[in-house]
This record gives sequence, structure tokens and C-alpha cells, in this order.
Amino acid sequence: MKTIKKPKDILLFSKKMHLAGKTIGLVPTMGCLHEGHLSLVREAKKRSGIVIVSIFVNPTQFGPNEDYNHYPKTLKKDKALLNKLNIDLLFTPSVKDMYPEGFSSFIKVEGVSGKLCGHSRPGHFRGVTTIVAKLFNIVSPDYAFFGEKDYQQQLIIKKMVKDLNLPVKIISQPTIRESDGTAKSSRNKYLSAKQREAAPVLYQSLLLGKELAKKKEKNVRKILAKLRAFINKERLVKLDYLSIVDPKTLQELKTVKNSGLIILAAYLGKTRLIDNILIKSR
Ligand code: PAF
Repeated sequence: MKTIKKPKDILLFSKKMHLAGKTIGLVPTMGCLHEGHLSLVREAKKRSGIVIVSIFVNPTQFGPNEDYNHYPKTLKKDKALLNKLNIDLLFTPSVKDMYPEGFSSFIKVEGVSGKLCGHSRPGHFRGVTTIVAKLFNIVSPDYAFFGEKDYQQQLIIKKMVKDLNLPVKIISQPTIRESDGTAKSSRNKYLSAKQREAAPVLYQSLLLGKELAKKKEKNVRKILAKLRAFINKERLVKLDYLSIVDPKTLQELKTVKNSGLIILAAYLGKTRLIDNILIKSR
């Protein structure tokens, strides 16, 4: 596996690959890789001739009081994992190369970026779409892979690609979970033993909501009240938001008719975790 740091070198590499008739799959990450990322890499390998993984902790998607400075960095371990999967190229650009002095151009997907996580983390999705668009311009992938744990993120990226006619197909993949149901996340590393023990309540609440909606309860307000009461029994967990929304628009629903998405964010101490589940009532 080759590692490239400079954007201009990747540009050249991708050009050569495309000229040779190869398709390129990109898996953008911030490192601290876990099974969720590796499942994206495996899917990329199935679909594309060349697989490129990027590792870049993107400063513009973190708020001033968030964990940018502490975000876990495990490059040596990440490289070993990627080597085992036999990817073609790892791209690890520097902050200076991605955001040179004077940088002032951002991409914002209006509307959907302001809801849910976008409401709790103003500016977060502007940072995500800007870096992802930059990566697309540098790598020119045919496919790019994102996890459904970050449901809102993959939806926003799909919208950006459609709105801006970007020549890349976005493939989203199911959330990978620990054996107790907790969604795999680089931020699980921050949890104390007690917080980690409390974390499964989040996925359990999603399963409970799905079950309620499937069986008899269609009233979103009533479902959410039950889920809140369920989660609040775990005193180490503080909900940031819990909503049932339209999976395509993220508009809040009043009743669950055909489909819905239960989506939440919660704090365990200072660690913020997100999760979601799709419900189909028929
Ligand atoms: O999901 C992530 O790890 C990041 O938001 C991404 C897509 C790599 C952009 O920095």
C-alpha cells in the first residue's frame, strides 16, 4: 500500500488510473479505523478497481468547544489494518495543504444541514461538505463510500452530489455494531467503563421505537415519550435530540405511515454519540 500526502500527487495518480481504464473507489475517513470503516473498504474493493482511503481529521467540521484537538489518532494501527485489506493507496494530507493560508471557500447544502446534528453543531456540515467536495476534486473517484450511522451526513453528501452534478456515485453502507448493539464509532474510545455499560440503551431505545411503530403505535409524540422515558432511566445518558423524521427530507413526522427514521444524539459525559434506525410500518 502506497501512502501519498500531497494533493497534486493524488491528482496525477488518479489521472493515470482513469487513463488505464480503472475505476476508483474512495473511502474518506478521519482515521481511528474500526470495523465500520473496514466494511466500507470491503465494499469499495467489490465495486472498484482501485481503492483509495483518506485519513484527515478535518478542522472545519469541529466547533470551537469540540474534540478536534483530542480526536484519537492511531495512524500506525490504521495503516496495519488497511495493509491487511490490501488497498491501493492511503491519502494523508496535511491541514496546511487542504486549507492553505487565505482559504475562504465553503460548500453548504441549505436546509437539511440545519436540522438535527446541524442544529446542535452549527457549521459542522459546512465543514463536512467542503472537505468531501475537496477530496472528490483531488481524487476524482467513481464511487465514494459512507456509513449509515452518520445518516444525515450521507444524505447531505448525496444531495450535494446531485445539486452540483458531481461525477461520483455515493454508496452508503449499514451501521456496524458491537455485540451489545452499540454502533461502532471512533468516539466510543472516550467512554469510561461505566459510560460504555450505559451506551447500549441508545440502540435498545431505537429497537423499542421500531417495535412500537410496527405493532400499533403510529403517534410520533407518544412513541418519543416512551423512548425518552426508557433512555432517561440510564442516568449517565443525556439526550441531545431524539426525533422521528422522513428518511428522505429529515422533516419531523407527526405520525408514522409508511416509513420513518428514528434518529438520536446523546451525551455520555462529554462524549456525543449518534445512532438511527429505519422503520417501515408495512
Ligand atoms: O465521517 C467522517 O469520518 C467525516 O465526517 C468525513 C466524511 C471523513 C469528512 O471529514
